[in-house]
Amino acid sequence: MSKTFDVAKIKKDFPLLERTVHDRPIIYLDSGASSLQPHVVIDAMSHYYATTHANVHRGVYSTAEEATILFERSRQVVGAFLGAVHPAEEIVFTKNTTESINLLANSWGATNLGPGDAVVLSIMEHHANIVPWQMLSARLGFEIRWITVDSEGFLILDDLDALLEGAKLLSITAMSNVLGTINPIRELAARAHAAGALIHVDGAQSVPHLGTNVVADDLDFLSFSGHKVLGPTGIGVLWGRRELLAAMPPFLGGGGMILDVKTDGFLAADPPQRFEAGTPPIAEAIGLSEAIRYIDTIGIDEIRSHELHLTTTALDALAGRFGDSLTVHGPGPGAHRGGVISFTLEGVHAHDMAQILDSVGVCVRPGHHCAKPLMRFLGVPATARASFGLYNDEHDIEVLLEGIDQAAKLFT
Ligand code: ALA
Repeated sequence: MSKTFDVAKIKKDFPLLERTVHDRPIIYLDSGASSLQPHVVIDAMSHYYATTHANVHRGVYSTAEEATILFERSRQVVGAFLGAVHPAEEIVFTKNTTESINLLANSWGATNLGPGDAVVLSIMEHHANIVPWQMLSARLGFEIRWITVDSEGFLILDDLDALLEGAKLLSITAMSNVLGTINPIRELAARAHAAGALIHVDGAQSVPHLGTNVVADDLDFLSFSGHKVLGPTGIGVLWGRRELLAAMPPFLGGGGMILDVKTDGFLAADPPQRFEAGTPPIAEAIGLSEAIRYIDTIGIDEIRSHELHLTTTALDALAGRFGDSLTVHGPGPGAHRGGVISFTLEGVHAHDMAQILDSVGVCVRPGHHCAKPLMRFLGVPATARASFGLYNDEHDIEVLLEGIDQAAKLFT
């Protein structure tokens, strides 16, 4: 762990961590579902509303021009964070990861896929990277093929080349929101390209916690959400290679995405505006760029080291304290492991576990984690999931263990 990583100081940046629940300090272990926001993000958004708000790309008065500059500057900040070469053209603001993938499916997919084609997914995808492809496949008649996982929670890649044969797209998560597995994205991109397919990476879980570089990894598309990366809800990103986005038709129609409209048709604007119909999430883009600046001041690699340390500590402590009565679903500690720990304690339903943890202030997510195909594949109806952020520390793990202890005493 980085010696300069000052988690006590970082905690103070997140106002929600000051509150209590059931007279206990809140212990937030649900960053996989949504992260908390630092003061600077909240302040940037309220300052924008209080001083500058106007619609973008429309007015010529001062605040409208300032709002447009701030909004477009946010694209640059997001692009730099991802290593994008042409942020002004390649960063599309959407509502969330789900909308980014629906855009990809309904724009690129609807014009490139048909009977005889295939899209390759993995069994560890969350619903956002499954259902849009299933909806499109029902319309267009292409095949969906599945990469499965082994007993440790790693992708089985031995037969990947066969799965990719004749496929047009590999759409895959960089990190499982259930298992915590970090997938070998660079290798997957190389193998997809060798087979003549494109690759879309679902970065909802990875972008907030691991360094991302779309060029070094040789990606074609990447999606992620603002609210998991210390930013606000209501904004997501689809990054796509400039030439791919330029060849894609619009997804949603309306104001802002056109060059011209006549009674007999319209001419679409260039990307990214082509994909941003209607008033975009302006304050949210400003909040997201502030979140990324905050992450940059700490360092994404330092954040990763800290979270890896927490994950390893928690996995070791859970195994040491509860032995075989507690099952962690996913790989053991190591560099291939993100800060998501899904677990089941013998004799205790995940929802009961989450409720008992809540009684000591600990927030975890119980259930299927919007990844039902994976849960079916594992034969596990529900797990409790603790997921870390940069603001967690060893004390949070101790309280988690205390809560699990209470559940064990109550139910077993
Ligand atoms: N996909 C989000 C999660 O894992 C909502 O909780």
